[in-house]
Amino acid sequence: MDRINDQASIDAAASRNWSAAKGLLRFITCGSVDDGKSSLIGRLLFESKALFEDQLAVLADESKRIGTTGGDLDFALLLDGLAAEREQGITIDVAYRFFATERRKFIVADTPGHEQYTRNMVTGASTADAAVILVDARKGVLTQTRRHSYLVSLLGIRHIAVAVNKMDLVGYSAERFGEIQRDFAGFAERIGLADVVFLPISAVNGDNITAVSANTPWFRGPTLIDYLETVEVDDDRMQRAPLRLPVQWVNRPNLDFRGFAGQLASGVLKRGDRIQVNPAGTQSTIRRIVTSDGDLDEAVAGQSVTVTLSEEIDVSRGDVLSHADAPPAASDQFEAAVVWLGDQPLLPGRSYLMKIGAKTATASIMPLKYKINVNTLEHLAAPRLESNEIGVCGLELDRTVAFDAYSENRATGAFILIDRINNNTVGAGMLRFALRRSQNVHWQALDVNKAARAGLHGHSPCVLWFTGLSGAGKSTIANLVEKRLHALGLHTYLLDGDNVRHGLNRDLGFTDADRVENIRRVAEVAKLMVDAGLIVLVSFISPFRNERRMARALVGDGEFLEVYVDTPLAVAEGRDVKGLYKKARDGQLKNFTGIDSPYEAPENPEIRIDTTRVDAPAAAVEILETLGRRGIIAAG
Ligand code: ADX
Repeated sequence: MDRINDQASIDAAASRNWSAAKGLLRFITCGSVDDGKSSLIGRLLFESKALFEDQLAVLADESKRIGTTGGDLDFALLLDGLAAEREQGITIDVAYRFFATERRKFIVADTPGHEQYTRNMVTGASTADAAVILVDARKGVLTQTRRHSYLVSLLGIRHIAVAVNKMDLVGYSAERFGEIQRDFAGFAERIGLADVVFLPISAVNGDNITAVSANTPWFRGPTLIDYLETVEVDDDRMQRAPLRLPVQWVNRPNLDFRGFAGQLASGVLKRGDRIQVNPAGTQSTIRRIVTSDGDLDEAVAGQSVTVTLSEEIDVSRGDVLSHADAPPAASDQFEAAVVWLGDQPLLPGRSYLMKIGAKTATASIMPLKYKINVNTLEHLAAPRLESNEIGVCGLELDRTVAFDAYSENRATGAFILIDRINNNTVGAGMLRFALRRSQNVHWQALDVNKAARAGLHGHSPCVLWFTGLSGAGKSTIANLVEKRLHALGLHTYLLDGDNVRHGLNRDLGFTDADRVENIRRVAEVAKLMVDAGLIVLVSFISPFRNERRMARALVGDGEFLEVYVDTPLAVAEGRDVKGLYKKARDGQLKNFTGIDSPYEAPENPEIRIDTTRVDAPAAAVEILETLGRRGIIAAG
């Protein structure tokens, strides 16, 4: 415990590191342009003192690191304390502005109030200590105010100033101010915002910005600048929190030196400390703390360091170092709050890439528990989340990761979700807790395995995944292929969309969400059948790349062959064997693939059958030849 109370050493270390130094406040402004956000920021910049020379250089450096480049924003990177390392370019429409007074330096995230507002706000808020929420005195607390406040609370910003702006336009009325104050305070309490200060201001006229205004003699609180200069900075709190050092990379310049580099998300690290590598749980002792300025005896939250260990143990990128007696949790199933940013809705059952700290995992979304009406704070049942909506759901990862609840640690409890196809950041999330299910359900290792079964069958298992429009000819070709394989004495099974939808998937329809679940289930079944040693033929429209990729990832390398039955819409519609295209065109059948529901053609299928040039028997021959060439069945 004396590690935590040793304020002198914290201060000494802090003064060596600019971003960990007290005296820097990061805050965010919320409100639309009409509320006077730009005037307020303009006013703050104008009124604040010129920056001190030496600080300018550091601020410029910081601004370069946050900088705006092409690509997509990375919530986790930003949370990471603006980590220097950058694997993908990021676009942040958040303008970071820098100013200083004699008492403090400030970084204000100016989030544009228009499109993509949520995304920008999440980005700007992820490192903020405080939020200034602007309310137009004439309009009062609006839906948008509630929404921003909810996000501020969700993102863990602890100090809130409600700047009631344009007081000049309501005659500096104490009654109006009191009304807004009461209205907001009620909402703030319900969303758990504890530290809220109300300020009557006029950004345009400068009332209560830096100087106490004579127009509001009834107001006894601080000016906005007083507030910003004295509000508590989170860095102090993070230094008192348990040690978390996410390993950004493993440094091995020569054989004698193996260092683990990263930025301390929280806590204080000293030479000789007993540490644990998470999630593995192995332990060692800190031998050296290396920085570009030489070795340190200790480092604090915000500092970037490379550490070496006394006993060599396995540490890889994405692991989290903690003290041995205060490790983070580790799990592969969580409950989390998710702010959805994608243009396409979040669909339960779909899998996304998840970045948490320096770790990347694959996460499948479990059914939504609820979404939140940010106005009424009601929990609503919902099958999916649209852009800008906030919900709570379970997440299932393909590996165990170390984490803390976001409420405990913003750095190790935050994650982003990335679309696997286009690499866009589509969601930002906050971990709440591990689901116990993952600790209680273990994978049962069995002695008779895939290889043993394949040995009995005398051939390798695989999935032949037929995809294409309805009426493209998938099932006809798959049926022929299975007949031929069967005749060769091979063990097969054909999973056909129309048939599986009569049983296992009879609860599913044709919305995007249902199709995602349809494919998820059949992919899992195909995986089990491959494990059983069979050649599995899957004949489903399977219109989305994402789910086909997921199905591929479930089986081993070389065990998945995507067969694109490429029939142009006009041709499939012309055949219209089941009469469904006609019904769809007549409006009697909704969400029909190719008509009013999308089909995403494969980009790199193992086999492409152009049914306008090749008939079904010839296609079957081609597929068998491919299986032979790939050594799945005996060639010839
Ligand atoms: S998938 O898109 O979820 O992969 P799946 O292959 O299971 O679809 O089922 C497609 C079959 O369901 C089609 O061949 C067709 O017979 C039938 N069907 C009924 N309604 C639709 C629809 N709206 N869109 C596509 N197919 C439909």
